[in-house]
Amino acid sequence: MNRNLIVFKDPETLADQFSDKLMSWIAASGGSHYHLAISGGSTPKLLFTALALKYATSTLWEKTHFWWVDERMVPAGDPESNFGVARQLLFSKISIPEKNIHPVNGENDPFAESENYAQQIKGEMDIISGWPEFDLIILGIGEDGHTASIFPNQTELLKSERICEVAHHPVTGQSRITLTGMQINYADKICFLVTGASKAERFKEIWMKEEKAKLLPAAHIRPVNGELYWFTDQAATQLLP
Ligand code: 6PG
Repeated sequence: MNRNLIVFKDPETLADQFSDKLMSWIAASGGSHYHLAISGGSTPKLLFTALALKYATSTLWEKTHFWWVDERMVPAGDPESNFGVARQLLFSKISIPEKNIHPVNGENDPFAESENYAQQIKGEMDIISGWPEFDLIILGIGEDGHTASIFPNQTELLKSERICEVAHHPVTGQSRITLTGMQINYADKICFLVTGASKAERFKEIWMKEEKAKLLPAAHIRPVNGELYWFTDQAATQLLP
């Protein structure tokens, strides 16, 4: 598997350059839909701002469908809501059809919503090798090595045969819906966005395939048929040899 590692000088430059790469991928894709799943966290906020600044009136939004890698089970207006942040920073500033935005219903019962969201995903995407195929999934890595809402104490979510599962934040206990590791790994492209010195140790462990990385959910993301990209900055890669 080709390990595409691209290093930028800082998070802002990464977001600016990745926004161009994302739009080029959407433009180059055939078909009438581009199914993109986004994560929460701080790095995507910079990406949303870059996209809104440069691509507000792009016609590519007509074919682009936004899904969530994971979502906190809170109302959309809650500052914790990944959808709420994307709506504020991106969707409110670009010309995208409402029907192309597929938020998790954060006010539903978590287990009911896990099944409901999986049905929505299955109903909209091509099924490849038995799994819905996202065109692109954008992930981050937590300081504990989590990705999506798959935390080190819930690694069974990596191998679940379901599309979505209910997860719980290990410290706050907050309920979340997350795509499973299997669903993520069946994407056509997977991009990690990793920035900042606080991720340097985890990134080194994963990139160097250290023994301790086996305990980190992010280390278990490996596309079955697709491509894996790492968009990083100098601070996050400072410990690489
Ligand atoms: C979430 C995210 C989460 C995130 C990492 C990295 O909902 O919190 O999906 O998995 O990707 O915590 O976040 P940063 O972008 O802040 O590094």
